[in-house]
Amino acid sequence: MSRDGAADVARLDAIDPLRHWRDEFVITDPELCYLDGNSLGRLPKRTVDLVHRYLVEEWGSELVTGWSHWIDEAQRVGDLIGKAALGAASGQILAVDTTSVNFFQLCDAAMRANPTRKVVISDTANFPTDRYILEGLCAQHNKRLVLIDDEAGEEYVTSEMLARELNADTALVTLSVVQYRSGALHDVAQLTRQAHAAGALVLWDASHAVGVVDLQFDRDEVDLAVGCTYKYGNSGPGSPAWLYVNKRLQDSLRVPIQGWFAQRDQFAMGQGFERAEGMRGFQIASPSIIGMRCVEAAFSMIAEATLPAIAAKAALGTDLMVRLHDAWLAPLGFSLTTPRDPMRRGGHVTLRHPHAKQIATAMREIVKVIPDYREPSSIRLAMSPLATSFTEVYRGFERIRTLVEGGDYRRVQAATSRVT
Ligand SMILES: Cc1ncc(COP(=O)(O)O)c(C=O)c1O
Repeated sequence: MSRDGAADVARLDAIDPLRHWRDEFVITDPELCYLDGNSLGRLPKRTVDLVHRYLVEEWGSELVTGWSHWIDEAQRVGDLIGKAALGAASGQILAVDTTSVNFFQLCDAAMRANPTRKVVISDTANFPTDRYILEGLCAQHNKRLVLIDDEAGEEYVTSEMLARELNADTALVTLSVVQYRSGALHDVAQLTRQAHAAGALVLWDASHAVGVVDLQFDRDEVDLAVGCTYKYGNSGPGSPAWLYVNKRLQDSLRVPIQGWFAQRDQFAMGQGFERAEGMRGFQIASPSIIGMRCVEAAFSMIAEATLPAIAAKAALGTDLMVRLHDAWLAPLGFSLTTPRDPMRRGGHVTLRHPHAKQIATAMREIVKVIPDYREPSSIRLAMSPLATSFTEVYRGFERIRTLVEGGDYRRVQAATSRVT
């Protein structure tokens, strides 16, 4: 049997120390190859149980008195995310709002903390919401937005590229830990050190990294970070996002929305805003408690499985995808956008093909393989280590090969759905 035959891949599953976690997810169709955990993770059975118990035993029976123990949930659940997935000590994370809102809040705070510095650096491949929010904030704060462009196509910002733009006028550098399209993983420690040496603050968007990359925010002296919980965090569509503010910055930064959850004596309901100390000073409003239970269930699984084990499986899974691409798909006109070095990617790989949009639609409609499609011409495929098996990846790639080799994908129209 050649390397990466079905039997070899079955053996990878047999020796996978995380294999039993797949049974902890709701899987309604065993034939489906779900390779889109980088977009929306599967539903954990624990979540069904915890949310049901919350509805019946908490909201249903406690009614408003529940707030006596729900009131600090954003901090408690934030600490769980920090411990399970961010390498962050407690008292630096809130589980709240959306990634976009948190990004706006922290970028605004960082820009106002550095009023005399006039430049903000990001990159052209950063996630659209980040770029759009930066455009708006830079106009508002009279700053110049510089977007680094990696012409090589991996969308990987090197230290040399950053050095070309960074100087004493830089207020803020903000990048994604893992690029949403190419899957390239930035060197968080190195780029953070470099920005600090120039006196700039750094904000990382870790949406595509949290729950799959072994992040070490405290060790790497990260200033600020935001991210979601619905990708490798498996916490459900629209589940609460999180924000991280390093302890050393909590006193000096001020977010623009001064909501009542940031008021020092919240229930005194007094006149005038007096900001609470610590992370509470960064919270706007009531957290979604049902959302908190989803995050709690899913991140407790990550904490038990441990991030080093999860990241090791992601590296093996993406490596398998790269090899299957080279053996089966490259001859059919595909090319790989994601870096080949496993230390330089997260949990997904991205393949380009001139007919990618039509192929991605056909994968869903004809052969029960779920990827997602991103402009231009990119199909993203992920190993979400707790839920995805190596056999699922193998079968998925086998079906893509058959679909494209036989030309069956031409039978479908490219995606008609607005969401790709
Ligand atoms: C890197 C990144 N940042 C931000 C967002 C936006 O998240 P939200 O809609 O929760 O604000 C996403 C969504 O997928 C993302 O991938």
